[in-house]
Amino acid sequence: MSWGLQNRLSRFVRPRTGHTVMLAVDHGYFLGPTSRLEKPKETIMPLVPYADTVMLTRGVLRKCIDAATDVPVVLRVSGGTSIVGPDLSNEGLITTVDDALRLNACGVALSIFVGTSHEHQTLLNLAKLVDEGEEKGMPVVAVTAVGKELGKRDARYLSLCCRIAAEIGAHIVKTYYCDDFEKVVESCPSPIVVAGGPKIPEKKALELTADSMQAGAIGVDMGRNIWQSDNPIAMIKAVRAIVHNDVNTKEAWGVYEENAKPRRKKRK
Ligand code: 5RP
Repeated sequence: MSWGLQNRLSRFVRPRTGHTVMLAVDHGYFLGPTSRLEKPKETIMPLVPYADTVMLTRGVLRKCIDAATDVPVVLRVSGGTSIVGPDLSNEGLITTVDDALRLNACGVALSIFVGTSHEHQTLLNLAKLVDEGEEKGMPVVAVTAVGKELGKRDARYLSLCCRIAAEIGAHIVKTYYCDDFEKVVESCPSPIVVAGGPKIPEKKALELTADSMQAGAIGVDMGRNIWQSDNPIAMIKAVRAIVHNDVNTKEAWGVYEENAKPRRKKRK
């Protein structure tokens, strides 16, 4: 690994713990103004002090994030599809590594769609990005997307996706948590971060985080389960406590409750 690549990586994978809390706010690239991310700046800025990196598109970065903000950035560089289009897996590269360098990003992220009709094209996108990332010192995060039609998140399928991403050269692989997750981690030579997925109750999302770490993930790349919470700051603090301070779900729930707004009492 070149010095530049290693240095960029260590800006968001904290050298003290070897772990990371990535804040995923890139959803608009195919979902548009999704719930609670309608005004990106208002959602993102209060969470920035608690994130090891924010993962977002160059458009939101340029328009919504103050250039003086001292947060490492991982740029989403694949896309070209939408939730109302014919096929979400038909992604191409939408941002160059040169633009990522201009934006002082410390990583780039793209999705691969194993088992879909666009498997080949998205895997070649990854290969091209890794070649350029190695040449220019830019870490690549491969996101193992689960196509709607696959509808499965089992260890066999996710191991296949993650291993292929690592074989092609991804520096970090992002995937979903599943039963027997340690099998996914063990068979993937690259470090794994876990996506949160659709919003679930806070305690469940903390459990997912703790179970992922227990199974060997190096952190999370979490979005909706943080910023769609009624208490996003409490939530990211609790996630941080698991990822960096090795607390269990019960202790993390304590962190959440300590930082959450008191619940309004129901009127009788
Ligand atoms: C979409 C992504 C998202 O960043 C990813 O799904 C993480 O966000 P969430 O925790 O909301 O699932 O990469 O392809």
